Amino acid sequence: MANTILVGAQWGDEGKGKIIDFLTEDADIVVRSQGGNNAGHTVVLGETKYVLHLIPSGILRREKICVIGNGVVIDPVALVQELDGLAEKGMAVSDNLLISDCAHLVFPYHRLLDEQREILKGKNKIGTTKRGIGPAYGDKAARVGLRICDLMQPEVFAEKLALRVEENNQVLQALGAEPVHFEEIREAYLTAAERLRPFVANTVVYLHNAIQAGKNILFEGAQGTFLDLDHGTYPYVTSSNTTAGGACTGSGVPPHRMDRVFGVMKAYMTRVGEGPFPSESAEVSDLLHGMGREYGATTGRARRCGWFDAVATRYATMINGIDELAVTNLDGLDTVEILHICCGYLYQGKILPVPPTDVFQLEKCEPVYESMPGWKTSTENAQSFAELPAEAQNYLNRIAELTEARLSIVSVGPSRAQTFVL
Ligand code: IMP
Repeated sequence: MANTILVGAQWGDEGKGKIIDFLTEDADIVVRSQGGNNAGHTVVLGETKYVLHLIPSGILRREKICVIGNGVVIDPVALVQELDGLAEKGMAVSDNLLISDCAHLVFPYHRLLDEQREILKGKNKIGTTKRGIGPAYGDKAARVGLRICDLMQPEVFAEKLALRVEENNQVLQALGAEPVHFEEIREAYLTAAERLRPFVANTVVYLHNAIQAGKNILFEGAQGTFLDLDHGTYPYVTSSNTTAGGACTGSGVPPHRMDRVFGVMKAYMTRVGEGPFPSESAEVSDLLHGMGREYGATTGRARRCGWFDAVATRYATMINGIDELAVTNLDGLDTVEILHICCGYLYQGKILPVPPTDVFQLEKCEPVYESMPGWKTSTENAQSFAELPAEAQNYLNRIAELTEARLSIVSVGPSRAQTFVL
């Protein structure tokens, strides 16, 4: 399968967990290279549902090695909870996980700052997951962050943490929030450190050696293209590079070692949190929420829903260099009579072929739709493209054509069996 980067082509929640799990069969190693426990990847195996936040979804296949790369921000206490949760479901993690020694840490003061900044922004809030992701990446860029290698050295850790707690408490108190307690954090983090110690390694060297040995690596993206810090709908984005380039910087694997880019997208659009969403539709939201679908895996929030936006996904193909597409949640549209696909943005009398950079302009864009008849029958038992109704085949071919990438996987339900390759 060679080295594959998998990215979300929309605003996250594209069903990546399931496609990653599917592609993992052919991979030896699965790598997470950005984001933190703001992500929530859901995989259903038999009767059991697993929601992973920091650990790569590959962990559900015992013989695969999972790597949390340098580009991820880690809350060590949350990571230990996730390991415990997997063990309770019979998926104990041992020598199948590696954690980069230079990944940055997320602290309680990051979460509090995240919350306070959202309050300060008022109606302009981003709608973050409140997991402290922005402030943690902010510390990394400001060169005051603490890393896993610090956590592995209790004295060094305590000394650096004391300084950070002192500074952050001043900021928190100025914002009217409660201060955090150094001793409580130190104790909780050093306890987590001992659980994590066996997994900590120089993952750059590990991945380099694996590539030399001809291993296949899958880089699993978290969030989606339009939440990318550089290329997304800034400032309504997350704080990492969710696009294909992030897989290189966040793992230390050079670009010329990557062989293909896989884009995952839903058959419609969703977005959680605030920010522009040109093809948002109350009709699509009501339909999907009415089916009990589209509630967030991490925060439980109802996702905003809309028609498929080909302007956005075509731009995602451009930024990520998407070669192949996986389309998920096709079955979500099973009851729709007339389907709409957004093919252009109308802005000040002109049709824009790509999304404008400025978020205020994007907010004013009117979607230009083309329409297609729905299939109005269940697709959830389809085992191949040929078994799909003709209208569903036409719809999939059209969205792939507009996205300018090759359709190669379709998913029609949450289980592993409801996935087929073209
Ligand atoms: P943050 O990553 O918690 O700072 O949130 C920033 C924006 O990214 C918010 O709109 C979140 O709803 C969104 N976001 C973060 N992680 C995810 C995800 O895994 N899926 C979908 N949206 C996400």
